[in-house]
Amino acid sequence: MSIGTVAVTAPAKINLSLGVGPVRSDGFHALATIYQAIGLYDQVTVSHSDDLTVKVNAEARLDISGVPTDDTNIVVRAARLLASHHGLERGAEIVIDKGIPVAGGMAGGSADGAAALVACDHLWGLETPREAMLELAAELGSDVPFALVGGTAIGTGRGESVAPLMTRGEYWWVVLESDRGLSTPEVYAEFDRLHDGAVVDEPEIPDELFAALRGHDVEALGASLVNDLQPAALSLRPELENALERGRLESAYGAIVSGSGPSCLFLCDGRAHAMQVAGGLTEHRLGHVSFAPGPVHGARVVAADG
Ligand code: C5P
Repeated sequence: MSIGTVAVTAPAKINLSLGVGPVRSDGFHALATIYQAIGLYDQVTVSHSDDLTVKVNAEARLDISGVPTDDTNIVVRAARLLASHHGLERGAEIVIDKGIPVAGGMAGGSADGAAALVACDHLWGLETPREAMLELAAELGSDVPFALVGGTAIGTGRGESVAPLMTRGEYWWVVLESDRGLSTPEVYAEFDRLHDGAVVDEPEIPDELFAALRGHDVEALGASLVNDLQPAALSLRPELENALERGRLESAYGAIVSGSGPSCLFLCDGRAHAMQVAGGLTEHRLGHVSFAPGPVHGARVVAADG
């Protein structure tokens, strides 16, 4: 019996370190990063259809006005790319249920792209090999391969080259969202503006970060979190500085802007501590606050029926 509907979840990503280097000849910045997938998810559900269509639903707090519902949506690009890789033309009715903030620096769009690849592959019975899926993902965007892989991983190149990193135990993150998103290209442009004329070093991952992960040392990890895009995000959104300071005062072990921002992350020592820090931050009414564990799995099928 053929499958009629497939649902796939894909997680938000954070960067424990985000080293940004010089602009490459293709216009992208060289990156050296440690990704971690955390327990905030988007879900993509696909069903058979002659045409390729997309519908976007979201939790009430999320502003989805900037998410396209035409051919430019990453899920449509993903479906087309997968079909053409196999020399096929296929349609699908695609529904995105967003739980990851839009333009929040947590790769929500990339999660949707990865989820759409996995969902369509299953719906159409293609069984595309893992390596080919990773290559297609890289064509869709720099963060999309990591959304397939999940867990904790080293990212190099423009972020698309992903090597899983074995880590011990679980970490808990408080996530502070902003009402207004930030455009990733604009944050990279601000990074370039701030470095105008200066030589940007090749990106690196700090040794202390690897050591903290090896020892599951939350305090050391908090102290070694680093994001080279943070000055650019703070330059565009100065109020985030206050949010980071609030989280530190609420006893978080580390406070950092997530990727290109504007979401902020606060590292906590277990679930109870995360609840406490989240409660404290909520009282300051800086934006929506939630908490989630990491690492979690990458994009995976959660339901399939005929
Ligand atoms: O690859 P992706 O589509 O996610 O990238 C979005 C934008 O972010 C790029 O067009 C580019 O402006 C910027 N970017 C970059 N260097 C990277 C990744 C992204 O400059 N390594």
